[in-house]
Amino acid sequence: MCKTIIISNRLPIKITEEDGNLILKDSEGGLATGLGSIYKQNKNIWIGWPGLDIKTEEEKAKITSKLKDENLFPVFLDEDEIQNYYEGFSNEVLWPIFHYMSTYAQFEQKYWDYYKAVNEKFRDAILANIQPGDTVWIQDYQLLLLPKLIRDSIQDVSIGFFQHIPFPSFEIFRLIPWREEILKGMLGADLLGFHTYDDVRHFLSSCTRLLQVQGVANKLIKKGREIMVDAFPMGIDAGKYKTLTKCPGVEEIYQEYLKTFNGLKVILSIDRLDYSKGIIQRIEALEMILDRHPEYINKITLYMIVVPSRDSIPQYKELRDEIDKLVGNINARFRTTSWHPIQYFYRSFPIEYLSAIYSRADICLVTPMRDGMNLVSKEYVASRRRSSGVLILSEMAGASKELAEAIIINPNNIGEIYRAILQALEMPEEEQRQRMTALTNTVEKFDIYHWVKIFMDQLDKIKLTQKQNE
Ligand code: UDP
Ligand code: G6P
Repeated sequence: MCKTIIISNRLPIKITEEDGNLILKDSEGGLATGLGSIYKQNKNIWIGWPGLDIKTEEEKAKITSKLKDENLFPVFLDEDEIQNYYEGFSNEVLWPIFHYMSTYAQFEQKYWDYYKAVNEKFRDAILANIQPGDTVWIQDYQLLLLPKLIRDSIQDVSIGFFQHIPFPSFEIFRLIPWREEILKGMLGADLLGFHTYDDVRHFLSSCTRLLQVQGVANKLIKKGREIMVDAFPMGIDAGKYKTLTKCPGVEEIYQEYLKTFNGLKVILSIDRLDYSKGIIQRIEALEMILDRHPEYINKITLYMIVVPSRDSIPQYKELRDEIDKLVGNINARFRTTSWHPIQYFYRSFPIEYLSAIYSRADICLVTPMRDGMNLVSKEYVASRRRSSGVLILSEMAGASKELAEAIIINPNNIGEIYRAILQALEMPEEEQRQRMTALTNTVEKFDIYHWVKIFMDQLDKIKLTQKQNE
């Protein structure tokens, strides 16, 4: 029976070592949490990096055997590969460029050399596991060269690629010194998916301007082979989030939150530490409220979870320091003996806690400067117990294209975030209900299972067309 091989830089499970024991934990980030629900079906497998620099062959064998029970296959990265391929090219070149922060990009030749070599390493891991007729589904910007590497190695294969982050406009993409090789790498796929039509349009225009390919609508023809490019806005496992709200363990935590925040309006924000997330902007908007509306002192609190991420990269370290300073200042300025305006946590939370706080929060504040999709906004909607609560959402997040009933803001405009928070704080219950009901319908209808199905159906269709054209 043919299987699907999902391949991403990071596995949906992280291995950590505690007191000499290997511990498996869920990875954070939209890719892992989104696809984590579906990879165990049939004989499917997932190949990726388990997130540790493992030194000895003995340890590698131990990890490999532990992961195999979960249908997971590790690709081990050494210290140099982590530094140059993962932190370097993936997160100091592609991440800033694709999020329109081009001044953060470091175009180091060494990063590119490692990026190519590690993409080849992932190819070898696929070749060791693939059978004729299998489907390979490559995930995200760390593996842009992989589609072509696989196409050049095997014939009878369907290759899908999905990018979980934005694709920038041509004028930004063209800054990358290795831009043609990157596009050629991606075009090894039969189907390329992005979260929004804007991403699709940007990708198509980069291809037609930089490569010898013909573009007709959202199809590209490369050496006679038809390649489809389309938008597939990713959903979440809405059913799982709904069920969680009814789970006794979550209920207990929820009741604790009700007691702790009795009489307070809770504004929730959850992100990985990342300069693309607009964390500073939302803190500044809160400060503006406390400055201009002292009547909210003792009445509101910002519950802010920042999950540690990529903190060996200078810009991430600097952002962390800046957040620490800003939160410290605001809490020192406005706090009372029994109240803090910002409850700030720099750590990750188990899903039961996330579910309970999503349920308790009156407002969810999502203000990225750029975001491929943003699953936190959808998880908030799926976790509401009554149809109330207000979502404030940046127009720069892919999710804003679907979640139109949120209060949509431009995160560069602090005044607009400030006004949106005030509007949310004062929004009548009836309006909250109307908006939240519409949001819930969207999140439940276009869930992760729907997303996987339409992507896979489209991949089958394009393979059929290719065969008919042969
Ligand atoms: N998340 C998590 N643990 C936490 C906080 C967040 O696993 O303590 C998850 C969150 O539930 C969401 C993901 O991290 O599914 C973040 O995805 P999103 O698309 O919002 O942003 P990304 O991190 O992919 O840029
Ligand atoms: C985003 C990216 C993923 C990445 C995740 C966490 O969701 O799209 O590819 O895995 O962030 O980042 P990390 O660098 O820790 O894998």
